[in-house]
Amino acid sequence: MTIETTNKKFSSQANVIGPKITVRGLTKRFGNELLYSQFDLDILGGAITCIFGPNGCGKSTLLNVIAGLAPYDSGRILFGEKTLKETKVGYVFQNYRDALFPWMRAVDNIKYPLKVAGLSKIQQKLRVEELIALFSTKIDLHRYPYELSGGQQQLISIMRALATGPEVLFLDEPFSALDYEATLTIRDKLQEVFQLSCLTTVMVSHDLEEAVYMADKILLLTKRPTRVAEIIDFYAERPRTAATLSEKEFIYTKARCLDIFKREVYK
Ligand SMILES: Nc1ncnc2c1ncn2[C@@H]1O[C@H](COP(=O)(O)OP(=O)(O)OP(=O)(O)O)[C@@H](O)[C@H]1O
Ligand SMILES: [Mg+2]
Repeated sequence: MTIETTNKKFSSQANVIGPKITVRGLTKRFGNELLYSQFDLDILGGAITCIFGPNGCGKSTLLNVIAGLAPYDSGRILFGEKTLKETKVGYVFQNYRDALFPWMRAVDNIKYPLKVAGLSKIQQKLRVEELIALFSTKIDLHRYPYELSGGQQQLISIMRALATGPEVLFLDEPFSALDYEATLTIRDKLQEVFQLSCLTTVMVSHDLEEAVYMADKILLLTKRPTRVAEIIDFYAERPRTAATLSEKEFIYTKARCLDIFKREVYK
């Protein structure tokens, strides 16, 4: 199966641009520590937003709250006009070692959300075949996670997150524990997926170059109490390649983000 045919199946499945995400009046505390207070945010639908900000400013917490993995004290979060419960989301964790079920073979890890969603064994098998084609992966999916490299495990995590055809994909520093080669490969695979489907993607990155390279919008957060410092657009065509890194627009955008980051960290 070629990527093009998978594309049709993907788009017939989703067939819509991922929803915008609206956060209004978000308040989030950890004990006495107020992390977000009356926090508002608009995340563009069908685009990649990369979150960048100082250590400990609350990037993971924001992702977790929006994705429903962490509770919040007050506020409203909508996906288009829908609630989280009415929206299909996928999540890729930073620590792939803890994210996969170690007692399940890679293929069963990918199938797991499909099983939970009630798909038949045949449907599960077909969907896994689509994902294999989409990522053109040659990984032996009958291996257990411990028998795979870090990059391969993270790729399995990403395939699992995409298995049910989510409208929104969350990734928290998905490359931070990977070597450079695995990072480049998976980044480019992800770009292909973004080009084929119009998921709303929200990714945390601690690497500014990577954040700009991947993003349509770079969301820059301040140190605590956390606010949106600025949201910067990056319009370069996809697929972005090594050549993108030396283009004027890329260098300019990265420098602008760095200026804002420094201003917010050192003030
Ligand atoms: N479960 C928790 N209980 C108490 N405090 C927490 C919890 N999770 C996060 N925090 C605190 O909230 C703040 C933000 O944490 P968070 O992990 O969201 O930041 P981050 O921007 O993702 O950091 P990093 O850059 O290190 O990944 C930190 O001060 C952290 O100590
Ligand atoms: Mg974090």
